[in-house]
Amino acid sequence: MEDKIRIVPGSVQETLIIPLYGRKLCSERFPHLYTDTSAAQLCARLDYDFSDLDAHAKSTFWQFGALEAAMRQIDMEWEIRDYLSSHPAAAVVNMGCGLDQTGRACDNGTCRIYNVDMPNIIAAREELVPAGERERNIAGDLNDYAWMDEVDGGDGAVFFAAGVFHYLTEVQARALVNALAARFSGCRIVFDVVGRLGKVLMRSTFKNFGMENYDECLYVENPEQLKGWCPTLTVSTRGYMLGYREMDDPNVTGLHRTLARLCDNVVKMRIVRVDCA
Ligand SMILES: C[S@@+](CC[C@H](N)C(=O)[O-])C[C@H]1O[C@@H](n2cnc3c(N)ncnc32)[C@H](O)[C@@H]1O
Repeated sequence: MEDKIRIVPGSVQETLIIPLYGRKLCSERFPHLYTDTSAAQLCARLDYDFSDLDAHAKSTFWQFGALEAAMRQIDMEWEIRDYLSSHPAAAVVNMGCGLDQTGRACDNGTCRIYNVDMPNIIAAREELVPAGERERNIAGDLNDYAWMDEVDGGDGAVFFAAGVFHYLTEVQARALVNALAARFSGCRIVFDVVGRLGKVLMRSTFKNFGMENYDECLYVENPEQLKGWCPTLTVSTRGYMLGYREMDDPNVTGLHRTLARLCDNVVKMRIVRVDCA
């Protein structure tokens, strides 16, 4: 039997469990909408107590959480494929990758895939899903730009971060976007954000995972604030739940659709796309 990989509890790294489990749940419950065949296999290889998550898995709200995890990946994949259609050999860079396989899901046979996360997550990733052809796993802190030296963006680059910018301060997020824009001309950067209410709702996540920088972390009440980050960036946003695709699965209920509209319009969950000159 293969050894299980331990994810250390009480850290920002542990947050990768939520979207991974969400993708597993979504694949089981809403297979017409989204399937991630690797998510269940990866969960099975982790030394992590999933009993609490399993206990809630049938509830409407947890299933909605699974939809959130899946819709975000669908959104990211849309933006990556759109960029690759005009830059087929681009670098596809998953910032704060956790155990997500979106780079591979978008592989067109010519792009280069990079996965960046903290060293212990990259070590786990190497063990569970070793880098394939045209793929590299990079251990690094997104706020220490040394990792960027390892990315070849000569044929273009699309950077994406799913569920990651919530854990950066606004100063860090703005500096990261500007650093990418300065180094990788013509690149695209995609990330998700929440508004003020969304940030309040995330307070328990910060508490549960032992993170203490809740007050400083990024939220975006009005996307206009992002346009002030740098005059050479073109910023656009779309709704996170319904901005890219309908939730077309027979198991999606009316309540799920209502919650999705609330997420986009009231919680202000958005996908931000930054196109750099
Ligand atoms: C909520 S998880 C999302 C994981 C993955 N993007 C997904 O959708 O499954 C957040 C991830 O961001 C990583 N992360 C947070 N802050 C980071 C930083 N400063 N540098 C590198 N990785 C970071 C965490 O280790 C974690 O894997």
